[in-house]
Amino acid sequence: MFESIKSQIGDIKKIVFVTGAGISQESGIPTFRGKDGLWRNHDAMKLATIDAFYDNPELVWQWYNERMLNIFNSKPNQGHKAIAELEKYAEVVVLTQNIDGLHQKAGSTKVLELHGSIVKIKCSVCSFKDEVTEEFSEIPPLCKCGNLLRPDVVWFGESLPQDVWQNAMVFASQCDLMVIVGTSLVVSPANTLPIYAKQNNSILIEINPENTEISSQMDLVVRNSSAIVLPEFVSMFKEDKL
Ligand code: APR
Repeated sequence: MFESIKSQIGDIKKIVFVTGAGISQESGIPTFRGKDGLWRNHDAMKLATIDAFYDNPELVWQWYNERMLNIFNSKPNQGHKAIAELEKYAEVVVLTQNIDGLHQKAGSTKVLELHGSIVKIKCSVCSFKDEVTEEFSEIPPLCKCGNLLRPDVVWFGESLPQDVWQNAMVFASQCDLMVIVGTSLVVSPANTLPIYAKQNNSILIEINPENTEISSQMDLVVRNSSAIVLPEFVSMFKEDKL
């Protein structure tokens, strides 16, 4: 599977993973695009924009609440676990578009959440921020200041948290290997991360059962699910260190 890069493993010190919804698919969390994707049956513009939120906060919160309960009950899969294990053999940073927290649950210590987190909330007006630890007693939940609380996630049309994005660009531009897992990589600016890696002559690998817009720019493409491929990928580093 990884024959073509095996001889270079010894020189790889810094690995950056760019992950998306596909890595959590085998943990029971649906992806956004593709055949069973959420955006097939739901209108993103009615659920994941600030205008949609002000139009109908109850609807947006119901949708996030449902997803939050599903995520609370989900567990990291072999893919998340393999990435966490790789920290024993290399410097690993995870740049994730996912808001589910499963990389951290699997034990990864350097995770940058580009699109925020579903377990975090913030006030739509004041500077209040918090973590959700139990179900809300009323929907939409209100801040102590009386205004609406919202999920602390990045909606369409919103900027990424600037400190997180700055760090993500730095990690991407310094890595020896970038592994792009389970993302269609159509959403900006996350889809520019491989460009920074390429400028550093980094090796680019994609793990995805489907073709994507960036597949043709990869050094290696592995067409299978991440829960199957990632443990094999990590074994290669383990064997190299023995
Ligand atoms: N293993 C690996 N990849 C998989 C698997 C799997 N088991 N199952 C599906 N995939 C791939 C799909 O082929 C697809 O290319 O995961 C990708 C998921 O793509 P999207 O649904 O577009 O998810 P993502 O790229 O994370 O979306 C980016 O869009 O709506 C926004 O904010 C949301 O963060 C999200 C962003």
